[in-house]
Amino acid sequence: MAAKHIETALINAGRDKKFTQGSVNSVVQRASSLVFETVEAKRQATANRAKGELFYGRRGTLTHFSLQEAMCELEGGAGCALYPCGAAAVANAILAFVEQGDNVLMTGTAYEPSQDFCTKILARLGVTTTWFDPLAGAGIADLVQPDTKVVFLESPGSITMEVHDIPAIVKAVRGVAPEAVIMIDNTWAAGILFKALDFGIDISIQAGTKYLIGHSDAMVGTAVSNARCWDRLRENSYLMGQMLDADTAYMTSRGLRTLSVRLRQHQESSLNIAEWLAAHPLVERVNHPALPGSKGHEFWKRDFTGSSGLFSFVLKQRLNDEQLQRYLNHFQYFSMAYSWGGYESLILANQPEELAEIRPAGGIDFSGTLVRVHIGLENVEDLRADLEAGFRRIA
Ligand SMILES: Cc1ncc(COP(=O)(O)O)c(C=O)c1O
Repeated sequence: MAAKHIETALINAGRDKKFTQGSVNSVVQRASSLVFETVEAKRQATANRAKGELFYGRRGTLTHFSLQEAMCELEGGAGCALYPCGAAAVANAILAFVEQGDNVLMTGTAYEPSQDFCTKILARLGVTTTWFDPLAGAGIADLVQPDTKVVFLESPGSITMEVHDIPAIVKAVRGVAPEAVIMIDNTWAAGILFKALDFGIDISIQAGTKYLIGHSDAMVGTAVSNARCWDRLRENSYLMGQMLDADTAYMTSRGLRTLSVRLRQHQESSLNIAEWLAAHPLVERVNHPALPGSKGHEFWKRDFTGSSGLFSFVLKQRLNDEQLQRYLNHFQYFSMAYSWGGYESLILANQPEELAEIRPAGGIDFSGTLVRVHIGLENVEDLRADLEAGFRRIA
């Protein structure tokens, strides 16, 4: 019987006795070779190699099967492919469903390397990419071409945080291209604050590097698929040699156990800070899906069950380089680093013209410097004081 509440599911998912063998957590089974006792056992393993039976390290061990089972339970999928990082999950999920002459329809707010995969690799293979406005909703139907095989969503969008109207998008795409594979980069929602497959999306991708791992010390990608797309996603990923080491698979499962309490704190602190920023005299706007006025807030409110710790805000002024350094170089608790989703707070800034360059569908309608923060698990008063000191440096 599946656990009723997400907190309980996160604690128990993937902890069947066959994976834990008497301990609390799944065993770490490191293996390339897996030994067959008899010819019959080898035959059996070969026949069931794609069904969670020990066969060869690249197909996974008990540690991977435990994580895959957990992810399927949490995201409601038929199968979960594992990758060495989020970018590999995005690239391999798309690649599994396109061939020369096909088209990918991708949100113009996708994570920059996801866009680059399309323009730099798929283009070489004769696959075209069309970009859609993240707020297109049902209007996306006008962009679907006869050869559109993949529709790639990311909600909220990278850096500028627009939330899609996903029911409208799914309905519109299914109306004109019923066979197209709809996939989403669901990293911000950690796969649980937005249940992508329940909304008719075929594949939910995560850079598990962020919230699943949660401690900024390992990289992993996951792609949970519905039954329609699972066989093809699995076999293509396998043939591309996509697998994860057992230790990182174990760390990912371990991250699941604390995911709901971490997310609750990320949500509480980030909302506290976002609301404070929205009233700050130096701030033009706050892009936080849970804040009224943020683009697509109404869709977040309708479709998501919570928010996480990543959002951005736009300053009234465009900082020059000297101001930017004065602002960013002296934070006490906010580190400057790529990635997010760990226990620590992070900060990065982008100028509007830099963002315009990575927005093929447009949408950069502001002239101030944009600051992206990840609100970690520190005390929220300390974080606010740190941000306030930053404002004093540029006031
Ligand atoms: C939204 C999003 N998707 C995918 C990725 C890629 O994940 P990874 O760094 O694990 O390759 C990132 C990384 O920052 C991301 O922010």
